[in-house]
Amino acid sequence: MKYNKMKCLAISLLISNNVLAAHLSEQVPLEIQMPAFAEPWKRYNGWAQDDWGNFSTLANILPQNIAPIQKVEKLEGDPEKGKKLVDDRTRGGGCYACHNMPNANLPGNVGPDLSTIATWDRSDEYLYNRIYDPRIINPLTVMPPWGAHGLFNDQEIRDMVAYLKTLNKSIGYKTSFDDPDKRPVPVEDRPNLDPLENPAMFATEDGERLYMELCSGCHQSPMTFQNWATMMPKFSTKMNKIIGIEEFVTRHTRAANNVNFPMQSPQNTALSIFLRFLSNGKNIQVDTSDPETQAALMRGEKLAQTKVGQLNFSCTDCHQIASNKWIRGQYLADMKSMIDHFPLYRTSRGEIWDIRKRFQWCNVAIRANELPPDAKEYGDLELYLTQYNRGSPLSVPNIRH
Ligand code: HEC
Ligand code: HEC
Ligand code: HEC
Repeated sequence: MKYNKMKCLAISLLISNNVLAAHLSEQVPLEIQMPAFAEPWKRYNGWAQDDWGNFSTLANILPQNIAPIQKVEKLEGDPEKGKKLVDDRTRGGGCYACHNMPNANLPGNVGPDLSTIATWDRSDEYLYNRIYDPRIINPLTVMPPWGAHGLFNDQEIRDMVAYLKTLNKSIGYKTSFDDPDKRPVPVEDRPNLDPLENPAMFATEDGERLYMELCSGCHQSPMTFQNWATMMPKFSTKMNKIIGIEEFVTRHTRAANNVNFPMQSPQNTALSIFLRFLSNGKNIQVDTSDPETQAALMRGEKLAQTKVGQLNFSCTDCHQIASNKWIRGQYLADMKSMIDHFPLYRTSRGEIWDIRKRFQWCNVAIRANELPPDAKEYGDLELYLTQYNRGSPLSVPNIRH
């Protein structure tokens, strides 16, 4: 009897320990009232500043209103105008982003080569609707609803249809670089831990200094945290959401040190990079076994498939359905190798980007209002991508174009 009781106790301790591992420790001091970013939230300088509040965001998902079929009796389009419109990048990237046509520079290959579409026996009405709202024909298409979402007006779509109807011979590609099937896939092989190559390495040093200054009073050597980053993000019962490393640093240092390092401040970035740097080479191993984390994982999966913004894209449209293809000059990463190298230094921007800033960019690029960096939805997405990348070794800080 006694033995059995002990055994039961041992089992229940084991279970509660597992739950603790999946959650942030209840003992950890966290400031939980304020947002973790610098208020008020303001989109970054140099980014498009438009407001796309009429369209879905990850936090405000509106129904997919597929347009009714548009009747087209007489086309009356001007092919010369259409030729310019298909290359108008101010309307959300233009058609060459996904289709090859004559005159295209660096076309993408997410959609079919349209250089012979005039010979495909497509009716005016079909072509019009294909552009106006391709969901009429394929509800799951990755092609944006150019007319239904107000990117091109009725006459402009007629002009583009008239232009497509002139495309009757295969033109190939100007150079092998223009051919998305031959274009070399970008390989990142710069030595990311060399401070001469990667300026984000200075943040690692700053992070170590801050650790010695602020953390070593309560914690032992940083090596006590050498596996910690591999298990993040985690569910916080106090916050009732998934918390990533950056938000943890903000909230923990506010409570434990009485300092304010909002997400994306230099001190926050430095500590967050340092805490991941300690786990470099170790495999991502988030624990998703408890019910709260399971629920967040399912929300994250759904969010990744949710179409948002004026261009109406989901994460999976680009990073799963169209992954390993070219969207104009950009090669679309697969969700498999996405998160293990964040934060990273972007040489084209001269900035360190954490994963939340990357999410924000991928929202704004498709004309969806971004969420603030500590948004619950981004936490769910970060968890989902991390689980997807389970088993890949951390490699931080990294470096990308
Ligand atoms: C994000 C990628 C993307 C962009 C940008 C895009 N398309 Fe498409 N398009 C596709 C895909 C993918 C298909 C294949 C059918 C499908 O999946 O719905 C397609 C199919 C088409 C078709 C039908 C071809 C056929 O078989 O009849 C036409 C016409 C077309 N696109 C025109 C355009 C025009 C015009 C533009 C610019 C206003 C444009 N597309 C921009 C992805 C794109
Ligand atoms: C005033 C004391 C104090 C200070 C200062 C402090 N911490 Fe903590 N920290 C705690 C306590 C208490 C816990 C919860 C018990 C535990 O896990 O050791 C904790 C937990 C943690 C955890 C584990 C969280 C989990 O459950 O997954 C990490 C990581 C951490 N601290 C990092 C830091 C870093 C980095 C700093 C410096 C920027 C810091 N702490 C400063 C007291 C402190
Ligand atoms: C219109 C296409 C498009 C959509 C939709 C999109 N992205 Fe991206 N994303 C890109 C491009 C282009 C890049 C840069 C090239 C690359 O690494 O894939 C990128 C890069 C990324 C990266 C960095 C990959 C790496 O290896 O460094 C992450 C992470 C990412 N996206 C996440 C998301 C998430 C999460 C969503 C949904 C909220 C999303 N993206 C939606 C086009 C898109």
